[in-house]
Amino acid sequence: MNVETRINSALDVRDQFPAIENWHYLDSAATAQKPRPVIDAITRTYAHDYATVHRGIYQRSSEMTGRYEAARAAAAELIGGAPHELVFTRGATEAINLVARTLPKQGRKRVLVSLLEHHSNIVPWQLAGYEVDAVPLTGDGCIDLDAAERMLTRDHRLVAFAHVSNVLGSILDSKRAADIAHRQGALLLLDGCQAVPRLPVDVAAIGCDFYAYSGHKLYGPTGVGALWGRSELLAQMPPWQGGGAMIESVAFARSTYAESPGRFEAGTPHIVGAVGLHAAVEWVQAVGLEAIHAHEQALVERCRKALRGLGFVTLYGPDDGAGIVSFNVDGVHPHDTATILDDVGVAVRAGHHCAQPLMEALGVPATARASFAAHSDSSDVEALVRGLEQVKRIFG
Ligand code: ALA
Repeated sequence: MNVETRINSALDVRDQFPAIENWHYLDSAATAQKPRPVIDAITRTYAHDYATVHRGIYQRSSEMTGRYEAARAAAAELIGGAPHELVFTRGATEAINLVARTLPKQGRKRVLVSLLEHHSNIVPWQLAGYEVDAVPLTGDGCIDLDAAERMLTRDHRLVAFAHVSNVLGSILDSKRAADIAHRQGALLLLDGCQAVPRLPVDVAAIGCDFYAYSGHKLYGPTGVGALWGRSELLAQMPPWQGGGAMIESVAFARSTYAESPGRFEAGTPHIVGAVGLHAAVEWVQAVGLEAIHAHEQALVERCRKALRGLGFVTLYGPDDGAGIVSFNVDGVHPHDTATILDDVGVAVRAGHHCAQPLMEALGVPATARASFAAHSDSSDVEALVRGLEQVKRIFG
């Protein structure tokens, strides 16, 4: 099958996204648009089924609790984990902060990240008192695992890498990363924000220790995400926020705490967020993550070829990245590029993408970034190319 046929026929889901009619939405890496089943699940729950969870004796609350826990099971199963290993958080950022704040350091004071990390996989470690070392990248913008192997010491408690780069789309060789980390007695945490919507993930097969992802990048709602952790590690981690639901018993002299995952979910959780996430998980599973991955890679291939063909665009990252293409129009600030693209109905992100160290490594203040999703198709790439020709006409 040639690329053209694959792009136009592999997925037929665009009409399930009411918010992108007549719009070339190429900013799914920032946040994904929502398909109808997710919107409907949220609306239906608030309109008909809503009640609190883990607190009510009445029937509606016990049903809602069942759905909340079913969402946990689905969120875990999506990445090959078990429900009791899955903590609901506000998103991947909170998930990483949770690990940074609560994992016993065991005398190790360093974390090994990479040059392409999002700020949310750098700053939480600094705030928690770790020294952060950064692995360089290969020439095509992947994390250099040979360098990681050389840099890792017995002082490192964790290796914390993006599974897929939010700027370059580069895909980590996650199994090798796990081997490298474990050989030095370190743990591997993967920031799976951009991977979970784009490829099948199996934490057991990878052999990682923690995995974080966000609901809103997975076609689900904002304000809900997941931390998966190996149960023996979660059991060693103390609570980090106190309140209702995370306790076993409370007295003024001393309180005791629930087992994980409840121990990490203080307060009334994002109940409908979890329901929406469950719908999103079922939606990506129905479409098929293998199919989404192949579809997005075909779009990346086509997009990079077309942009290269323009002759006035610099591309960053590997040719086989997952759904994300970063670029600059030569001599034009990416904010100007994004503004002209917006005028012609194409939405891209422009800026440092919350990855300032990566921008420094690339030697640019910012890039423009087109990111694809299951609903994207060749018309989006064509609109981007026409928009960039317009940018060239105006600024060239
Ligand atoms: N991490 C998100 C992005 O890359 C916000 O745009």
